[in-house]
Amino acid sequence: MLRANYDFMAILKIARMGHPVLLAPAQKVVDPAAPEVTRLIADMAETLADAGGVGLAAPQVHESLRLFIYKVPAARAEGADEIPLTAVINPVVTPVGTEIALGWEGCLSIPGLRAAVPRFERIRLTGIAADGLPIEKEVSGFEARVVQHEADHLDGVLYTMRMSDFRFFGFNEETMRYELPLPKVRMA
Ligand code: NI
Repeated sequence: MLRANYDFMAILKIARMGHPVLLAPAQKVVDPAAPEVTRLIADMAETLADAGGVGLAAPQVHESLRLFIYKVPAARAEGADEIPLTAVINPVVTPVGTEIALGWEGCLSIPGLRAAVPRFERIRLTGIAADGLPIEKEVSGFEARVVQHEADHLDGVLYTMRMSDFRFFGFNEETMRYELPLPKVRMA
């Protein structure tokens, strides 16, 4: 869990779609314990809290490094545990099984819009936490979706590049008002 007790934290500028930093493959974090990394994670946490959202990847704040933060609020936990704000450094995401689900996603780099995006329903996530401990867990559902979205940012991939059906792409207000039923799960 991240402790937001740094009196020097800063809200960072978020890159928007069209900025090349969002298309560049990010560099591996060489020293996850470095003070600059700790500081970046704290600043990203403050930036995410300010912007509202469930995840933020370092390239979105113009730092081309392989780390992201995410959380799963209780309202989105789908019967599973809520996940407090968590940092993942040098993540590796591996699909588990072949089940793919369509679900709505937004992105702080694509403000005002959202889309239904196909993602693996289950994945294995490995990486390093903010406290330096290894992360190794299998996650599913909304958490798996968020992790895949954020990990994609580290490879220069935005959700728009993953969309399979542009009918389910629109402004937040309209898509939430009409909430089109999404097609069911298909197999990879
Ligand atoms: Ni995003």
